[in-house]
Amino acid sequence: MALVTTKEMFKKAYEGNYAIGAFNINNMEIIQGVVNAAKAKKSPVILQVSSGALKYAGPKYLKAMVDAAIADTGIDLALHLDHGPDFETVKLAIETGFTSVMFDGSHYEYEENVAKTKEVVDYAHAHGVVVEAELGVLAGVEDDVKSDVHVYTEPDQAVDFVNRTGVDSLAIAIGTSHGAFKFAGEAKLRFDILEEIQGKLPGFPIVLHGASAVDPAAVETCNKYGGNIAGAKGIPTDMLRKASSMAVCKINMDTDLRLAFTAGIRKVFGDTPKEFDPRKYCGAGREAIQATVEAKITDVLGSENTL
Ligand code: G3H
Ligand code: 13P
Ligand code: ZN
Repeated sequence: MALVTTKEMFKKAYEGNYAIGAFNINNMEIIQGVVNAAKAKKSPVILQVSSGALKYAGPKYLKAMVDAAIADTGIDLALHLDHGPDFETVKLAIETGFTSVMFDGSHYEYEENVAKTKEVVDYAHAHGVVVEAELGVLAGVEDDVKSDVHVYTEPDQAVDFVNRTGVDSLAIAIGTSHGAFKFAGEAKLRFDILEEIQGKLPGFPIVLHGASAVDPAAVETCNKYGGNIAGAKGIPTDMLRKASSMAVCKINMDTDLRLAFTAGIRKVFGDTPKEFDPRKYCGAGREAIQATVEAKITDVLGSENTL
């Protein structure tokens, strides 16, 4: 039991036609909900930390809690930097002990993305850390980077990018987007682009960001107990399961955890207004996260019983 890179995880996932769930962590209850689900389902998981999470909880707290999760559950975990915005943040993550980093240069002009990503890859590989990069632009909000439109990943450019940078995995844009409001109309993913990239880069792990399903029941519970989340729409589960059976080896989900945690907490507040013990409502949030991640492992990722 240890902190591991995603190398072996992705190899097994690619060959086994499933994907590894990458779940964003910000506090102890979220970590426990995710890893308890992984243990119950005998599934690998990636715990990922955004710049916002680094600022909120602090790298030392997050790393110590992830070490505790490994000791408590006895399962290997990968600790990943999500949407690393610059070399300094990548360096901080690696110094903290992360085993995987994302450098997100997708908003730079192509040659600049190649150059900056290559610099990160050289540094990370010298420290035994694997690198995810991104090509194409997801609609929605990527940390501080706002984008209103999709720029789908161009398959030939993906091949050139992977060859020139030496990245270990690549996040592509095929129609997913961050947050709870992904589609105005019908959900649509460009599986033709994924298929073409898979054909040109056989065996290479692809990553899908913005892949929350936005469970209507979780939204309904939030709204029933005082929330106001209107028009939320995510990626249909069957589309994600299809992607995970293809070259997609890592599927990023954060919004679904946020909704589950909030729904769990709001229900306690609504049902028991006299309650003010944080363990009661944070505990309910933790249980809701565990149930959500268990369902993801079975229905979306197909990674059950692969440990
Ligand atoms: O892709 C973004 C993730 O959902 C992390 O969000 O930057 O608010 O922590 P955050
Ligand atoms: P969602 O907003 O769909 O959960 O995506 C999360 C993500 O991509 C984190 O990098
Ligand atoms: Zn993302």
